[in-house]
Amino acid sequence: METRREFLRFAAAGLLIAGAPITAACGGVRRDDLSPPAQWMEPVKGLGKEEIEILYLASLAPSGHNLQPWTVRVAGAGHWVIGFNRSFQLPAVDPDNRELLLAIGAFLENMVIAARASGKEAEIEVVANQAAEEEIAHVRFHNAKPTDFPLDRIKRRRTIRNGFSTEEIRADDLRCVTRHDEESCALTMVPSPHAFYFPNSSKMGKTLQERVIEANRTQAFRDPAQEELSRWIRWSDKDARLNRNGLTPESMEINGLARWYVRNFYDASSVLRKDFRQRTVDMVAKQVKSCGGWLVVTSLDSEVPTLIAYGMAFERLCLKVRDRMIGLHPMTQMIEEQGPSSVASSLGLPGQVQWILRMGYVASYPAPVSLRRPVAWFVTS
Ligand SMILES: Cc1cc2nc3c(=O)[nH]c(=O)nc-3n(C[C@H](O)[C@H](O)[C@H](O)COP(=O)(O)O)c2cc1C
Repeated sequence: METRREFLRFAAAGLLIAGAPITAACGGVRRDDLSPPAQWMEPVKGLGKEEIEILYLASLAPSGHNLQPWTVRVAGAGHWVIGFNRSFQLPAVDPDNRELLLAIGAFLENMVIAARASGKEAEIEVVANQAAEEEIAHVRFHNAKPTDFPLDRIKRRRTIRNGFSTEEIRADDLRCVTRHDEESCALTMVPSPHAFYFPNSSKMGKTLQERVIEANRTQAFRDPAQEELSRWIRWSDKDARLNRNGLTPESMEINGLARWYVRNFYDASSVLRKDFRQRTVDMVAKQVKSCGGWLVVTSLDSEVPTLIAYGMAFERLCLKVRDRMIGLHPMTQMIEEQGPSSVASSLGLPGQVQWILRMGYVASYPAPVSLRRPVAWFVTS
């Protein structure tokens, strides 16, 4: 009955928008719609314009469910304390703050790069011993020679989930990904033994496909995980503009009329319906088939400094592969459902798995669309 009612609404709306360009009818809120300069450059007590710009670039880092969990306390001139906001945690899928710390690492990497470009060296001191400690790292800036890193790379990075070619990742691209090389390697903090590449057509590629689908099924039908996800999806434009974090239909790559439909008729309860859960699994089953391969990144432990370093390395990797037209899609559900050590041992890998990344070449690299909170929202003095 519910499905039929929805179909009728959908059909009626189809009539209403007939003749209008589909993109206009689909609407939505993308990052560019939020007039960045005005919003992000709002004055923040204790910070100069250049520092606000550094924090804006840092905030373009990826984070699970696009939580943007970071906070910055201005402790003095050139001294910031990086922490996290307790309301931006994911107890159902990330009870140990593993992903939260990886995201903070990615945030710090962008901060370091942006600071260097403006002639400052950021010295990072990780102070948290436990993942639950709210104060994670102190950052102190020293003057240095400016580098000419193209900051536009940070602005253009995004997560890509669709449109991957099935072509295997070429040897020269793989070398760049796994080589331990300060100048040009993305994974400098993760020497090659810890980054394992598997073509999608290999035995391990097939194993990963099956296990990723299975983990997604487990999670999609686990109520606490699904309820948590439902709180971070911004179905309506109003909700997206209000919160500026979480997942929007655009960032989840729901396109065309489907996007218009979900924006208007979906809400938190839709995520808990059986058909939504099943569609998630079906979508994942399609995605895993189409990619070049998988990068599985392991560490020796999951201590706070390790996770920060692996988040930083991940961001460097993202910035690196962007120019090689390689898309990266973290598929974290196996780690969330089994834990980093069990995933490693079940795949026959050493240590603990911190990243499972689906990779593939893309013909065109789409513009970033996920929203960001203005700097003033996450800084305190
Ligand atoms: C620790 C971590 C885990 C993530 N896990 C997933 C995942 O399992 N599936 C997915 O589609 N995206 C995943 N992402 C990507 C985020 O959803 C994405 O970074 C966020 O929505 C912001 O979008 P952007 O990367 O395009 O800026 C993950 C990102 C991080 C940092």
